[in-house]
Amino acid sequence: MESMHRPQTRWSRRDFARLALASAGVLAAGSAATSTGLAASGGGKGTVTRNPLYIPPTAPPTNLGLVAKSNSIDLGGGRVSTAWVYNGGLPGPTLLARKGDTATIRLTNWLTSEPTITHWHGMLVTHANDGHPMEAISPGSTYDYSFPILNRAALNWYHPHPHMLTGEQVAMGLAGAFIVRDSIEDALGLPGGAYEVPLVIRDTSFDSSGNIAYKARTGGFEGTTPLVNGTLNPRLDVDSTVYRFRVLGGANARIFRLALSSGAPFNLIGNDGGLLATSFKVAQIDLAPGERLDLLVDFGGLPTGTKVMLRDLLAGWDLLEFNVARQVATTYTIPATLSTITALTNPVTTRNFSFDGMSKINGKLYDMNRIDFQVPFGQVETWRFTTNGNAPHPVHVHGASFQVISRTGGRGKLFPWEAGWKDTVLLQDFETVEVLIRFDAYKGIYLLHCHKLEHEDMGMMANFEVI
Ligand code: C2O
Ligand code: CU
Ligand code: CU
Repeated sequence: MESMHRPQTRWSRRDFARLALASAGVLAAGSAATSTGLAASGGGKGTVTRNPLYIPPTAPPTNLGLVAKSNSIDLGGGRVSTAWVYNGGLPGPTLLARKGDTATIRLTNWLTSEPTITHWHGMLVTHANDGHPMEAISPGSTYDYSFPILNRAALNWYHPHPHMLTGEQVAMGLAGAFIVRDSIEDALGLPGGAYEVPLVIRDTSFDSSGNIAYKARTGGFEGTTPLVNGTLNPRLDVDSTVYRFRVLGGANARIFRLALSSGAPFNLIGNDGGLLATSFKVAQIDLAPGERLDLLVDFGGLPTGTKVMLRDLLAGWDLLEFNVARQVATTYTIPATLSTITALTNPVTTRNFSFDGMSKINGKLYDMNRIDFQVPFGQVETWRFTTNGNAPHPVHVHGASFQVISRTGGRGKLFPWEAGWKDTVLLQDFETVEVLIRFDAYKGIYLLHCHKLEHEDMGMMANFEVI
C-alpha cells in the first residue's frame, strides 16, 4: 500500500533552508482542499472560517538536518504567528523510518538565546541519543545523533528536553511526529496514502500581537485555543471511506477527551507503542500529553457535504472538521488480529514512585547529576505510580515501553487505549497505576518524569541507570 509519508526529497545536512521553504509550501491537506464558501470569522457566533489542515512534509531521518529556529507560521487563513519550530514548520517534518533503518540526524540550535536538545519520545536509543538534558547544546551549536531503529511500527515523536526549558520550547512550537513502519504493519493493509493522516493536537495562547505565547504556570500551562497540526479552526476534506488517524497528545498539560460529533465510535487499533492485539470500538478517548492513538474512522455511507466534528468534550472545543467531499467505493474490514503483544510476566521487584505536589518524585526535586536508582538490564519489574493530588500527571519513562496492569483509586479501572505497549500513562488524583517494565534495549542513564511539562521543568523527574 502506497504511503502518504513516503519521502519525496532527501535532504543533506546543509539543505535545511530548502526544507524550510518546502514546508511553507505544503499547507493544504490535499489538492482538493479549498477555502471557498466560508463565512467570515470573528465576531459572529456560530460560523467559523475553517482552514485546510496543515500536513507536515515527511522526511527520512537519514542524513537529516534538523534545525530549531524561530519562524513566521501561517496558522491558517493568513493568521501569522512567530513560533519556534523544527525545519520551518509547525509541527516539524514527520520523520518516517522503517524498523532496521539507521537514523543519522544533525540537530542545529538556532534559537537565539537558549540551550536545547531533541528527545525522540518513544524511540529505543542509547543515552547519548536520548536527548537527555545533560546533552543540551548552546545556540549556534550542533549535536549529531546516530541510532538504529529498533522500535516496532508506531507513532513516536520528537521534542526538546533541555533542563527547565522543555515546557517553553514545546509550547512555542518545537515538536514533530516520528513514524516507524515494519513488515507486520505492512501486511495488514491499513489505510495509507492520503487516507493516513497525522494529527498533532495541542492548545496554545496568544499575546496581544497575535503571536503564540507561553507563560509557565505551576499547575500546568493550559492555552485558550486548540491547534491541530498547527492549524487554527482546521478542516479536512475526506472521501467517503476509512481513514487512519495517527494522533499525538502534543499539549503541555491539557487532557483532551476526543469524540466525534456524529456519535460514531473510533476504531482504536494502536497507541504509544504501536498496534494493539485487536481493535476496540470506543466513543470517547482521553488523550494526555505525550500519549498517542492510532484510530480508524469510517466516513463510508455519508453523503457528500456531511460534516463531522472531532471534538474535545472536556473543554467543549471543536478540534477538527471533517467534510465529506467525494464519494468513493470501498469495502474495508479491520483485521481481526492486529499484532502480537507478549505479556511481561513474573516481575522480580516492585518500585514505588510517588508524584508529590507539582515538582517532586518520592519527595525529591530533579537533580541532573544524581542517579536516583539503578535497574538491572533485562529484568521484569513492577513500577507503581501514585499521587495524592495536583494531577493530571502523565507519567513517562525513557528507554523502554511498559504494560499497564492496574489502576486503583480515582478512576479505578484501565481503559482500552491503555492496552498493549505504552510509554506514557495518565495518573489522576488519588490513583495508583501499576505497570510492568523491562529494559532490554540498552544500558545507561534514562529518565522517568511527569509529562505535564511544567511539572517536569520544576523537577518532577528522576534519573535512573540501567545496569
Ligand atoms: Cu516526551 Cu522525556 O519526554
Ligand atoms: Cu520520552
Ligand atoms: Cu505532574
